[in-house]
Amino acid sequence: MPTDFDPALPLELASTIPSDWYTNPARHLFERDTVFAPSWQCVARVDQLREPGQFVAFDFAGEPILIVRGADGVLRSFFNVCRHRAAPIANEPEGCASKLRCRYHGWTYDLAGRLIGVPEFAGVYNFERDDNGLVPAGVVEECGPFVWWKLAPNGSTVADTFAPFFASMNFEGLLWKARRSYDLACNWKVYVDNYLDGGYHIHTVHPALAGAIDYATYHTETFEYCSVQSAPLVAATGDVGNTRTGDAAYWWLWPNFMVNRSDGVMDTNWIEPLAHARCRVIFDFYFHAQASPEFIEQSLRVTEQVQLEDVTICEQVQRGLGSRSYRTGRYSVKRENGGHHFHRLLAESMRAVSSTE
Ligand code: FES
Ligand SMILES: [Fe+2]
Repeated sequence: MPTDFDPALPLELASTIPSDWYTNPARHLFERDTVFAPSWQCVARVDQLREPGQFVAFDFAGEPILIVRGADGVLRSFFNVCRHRAAPIANEPEGCASKLRCRYHGWTYDLAGRLIGVPEFAGVYNFERDDNGLVPAGVVEECGPFVWWKLAPNGSTVADTFAPFFASMNFEGLLWKARRSYDLACNWKVYVDNYLDGGYHIHTVHPALAGAIDYATYHTETFEYCSVQSAPLVAATGDVGNTRTGDAAYWWLWPNFMVNRSDGVMDTNWIEPLAHARCRVIFDFYFHAQASPEFIEQSLRVTEQVQLEDVTICEQVQRGLGSRSYRTGRYSVKRENGGHHFHRLLAESMRAVSSTE
């Protein structure tokens, strides 16, 4: 897959990654290996996986994955694929079980993935239960209030990869309250680009939000594998003014996770790449324990409004990227250093894989 983007050029000379990175189905499959297998994915909250037997199951970049806390307290990740005929072991996105039973023909595995029950299999030659446990899938770590998973087992820890993020974050007193999911007709990178444009589109796309942000001081700081956009919030009216106070910090963690903070409010956005022109964004909302139901409702309304505005523009951009008239664009030096940083990491991830081939 050709690189076709020069990461060495400084921001003021650089052009974006080319449009076919967003529109080519082969690129989508390629990124499963180059971008997603080697990167940390924030797949659950620690409170979903605290007790032995608690599990989460999800599909990510083409793989069904099951993460379960064993009877020994260890978190393990497996492919959510039965060794008999490949049916899923867990059929719910989360739950608690004393053992893992496939509902197709009833094969049963313990919480450590060992095959412990095989109905009607007497007389099968050269078949060892010990060789037919669930197949381990990558590595799991707990860091902050989150559980992280990565398919490729090597590389840095979550804490090291995102050290600037954890150093600046205080999760104290925040409780998870709600989840919302949005399917978008755009490549996942369109959504990330939109997030990382340094507030460039706030006044045009988000007029209600614009009134609450001190745009003049809004700026983006980049680190090795993350970046943060920050600005003080200013007095505003309506739901935005009531629920967005203090300092806003919008963290992006390579490649597809965002954490949005202001006083007493946090939401996380995890982007699943579903196809070359489809992605899903899952929002998890956290509030301080004393936040009233009215405050939470107001705050969710603000995010919903902003999200719908972003969905519209992202889907329009995806259509434009498919036009023969467009190939690359330039960056605003004042605003778009975060997007440039993202594109450089994309190019780097491709080179890292090519150099090991
Ligand atoms: S596929 Fe799981 S028991 Fe047959
Ligand atoms: Fe936006």
